[in-house]
Amino acid sequence: MNVVILAAGQGKRMHSDRPKVLHPIAGRPLLGHVIHTARALDAKRIVVVYGHGGDQVRTAFSGDPSLGWALQSPQLGTGHAVQQAVPQLDDAVPTLILYGDVPLTSRATLGRLVDAAAGHLALLTVALDDPTGYGRILRNDGRVVGIVEQKDATPEQLAIRETNTGILVVPTPDLKRWLAALRNDNAQGEYYLTDIIRMAADEGRPVTAVHPEFAWETSGVNSRRQLAELERIYQQSIAGRLLDQGVAIADPARFDVRGDLQCGRDVFIDVNSVFEGKVVLGDRVTIGPNCVLRDVTIASDSQILAYTHAEEATIGRNCRIGPYTRIRPVTTLADDVHLGNFVEVKASQIGLGSKSNHHAYVGDTEVGAGVNIGAGTIVCNYDGANKHRTVIEDGAFIGSDCQLVAPVRVGKGATLGAGTTLTRDAPADKLTITRAKQTTIDGWQRPVKNRK
Ligand code: UD1
Ligand code: CA
Repeated sequence: MNVVILAAGQGKRMHSDRPKVLHPIAGRPLLGHVIHTARALDAKRIVVVYGHGGDQVRTAFSGDPSLGWALQSPQLGTGHAVQQAVPQLDDAVPTLILYGDVPLTSRATLGRLVDAAAGHLALLTVALDDPTGYGRILRNDGRVVGIVEQKDATPEQLAIRETNTGILVVPTPDLKRWLAALRNDNAQGEYYLTDIIRMAADEGRPVTAVHPEFAWETSGVNSRRQLAELERIYQQSIAGRLLDQGVAIADPARFDVRGDLQCGRDVFIDVNSVFEGKVVLGDRVTIGPNCVLRDVTIASDSQILAYTHAEEATIGRNCRIGPYTRIRPVTTLADDVHLGNFVEVKASQIGLGSKSNHHAYVGDTEVGAGVNIGAGTIVCNYDGANKHRTVIEDGAFIGSDCQLVAPVRVGKGATLGAGTTLTRDAPADKLTITRAKQTTIDGWQRPVKNRK
């Protein structure tokens, strides 16, 4: 199948410098959703018709060299838009027309549309309580015979509630023929794609109308308000699917997935957390309120407490993370690790059962098993020019407020006294401490304020 995605429109009502189709829903540009769905349908060829903000749009998708592009300038209507893509369409397969600003049409609905076409035409229509603005579906004895635009419609036609979504499937050689015959003698002086329906009907070709499962699948985005509404609809649909699978979500209205979230059994997700990229939660994992997790895998029985921020991390079983922990790329935590408030870990591996419960920075560090990192500890991994690695071996105990100046190694079972600034390796099983001797000065008196 060929897919043509119309995306040349300006999107004035967004009041934005960004082209409309680059505004995101669930963290992905509107056009990205449409391309993703087209790919899922096994499209042989995808051609995006672009115009306004063209370079920005092309640049945003430059990572996908298989996309075809067709510039439409000036914009003379939807039929004219599809014409620009014609040279790139393969006659041997049908063509599906999609819209860059209609992001949420499901693969299932489009699959049904493609099947219904069966060598002829099929279009997606919806009955709306208020059809104002949309093209109306004209039927004769139940058969679809044409589409009339709002501005060209008679009062009787305006009363029709069945509307054109714009999405349709058509045999490619017929499409090319009909497009070439389009005229713009209508109220808007545009080349209407919709006129091909009448041409098909006039040739006695069957035109099948298919309806989406949900009306919002064919909702377009023209304003920030509609963008926000569609975002919520989308999030509610993801939440609904997860609830049906057995995930406990405290409030589906305060839940955001911007990527792919996979959950095991009896997962609990509290309010206001954001899941980005690919997130995998094992059985019985709990996510506290206000967490941000991006590209994170968490094994079973781990608890992520409130305000945790984690990216590009693998977290083992039965860990307790947060509240207020920050885990940065690329970090691996083994099982039973505890990280507490204001602990930041970056590019580190932390071994079985190790703990850092309060206020610490651990960067570029390999931490063994059973290590305790005291409050206020800082791994000084950066000398102002280069990053260096630190190793803390199994069973080490790092007292509070230590600095480990990398590269440095703390041996197995070593203890660092509180306040130690470690610049050389600490031997295994010994106490290492750098600290000025404590003295008390007898007879010392506090200064007193001078009299004026
Ligand atoms: C079109 C349909 C109408 C349907 C409605 C659904 C026609 C003539 N009318 O209305 O029956 O109910 O969609 O929303 O097709 N575009 C271009 N180039 C152009 C014109 C439009 O790329 O020259 C793109 C726009 O970016 C947009 C889409 O086509 O993604 C639809 O354009 P829009 O102006 O919103 O729709 P209408 O033509 O009013
Ligand atoms: Ca100190």
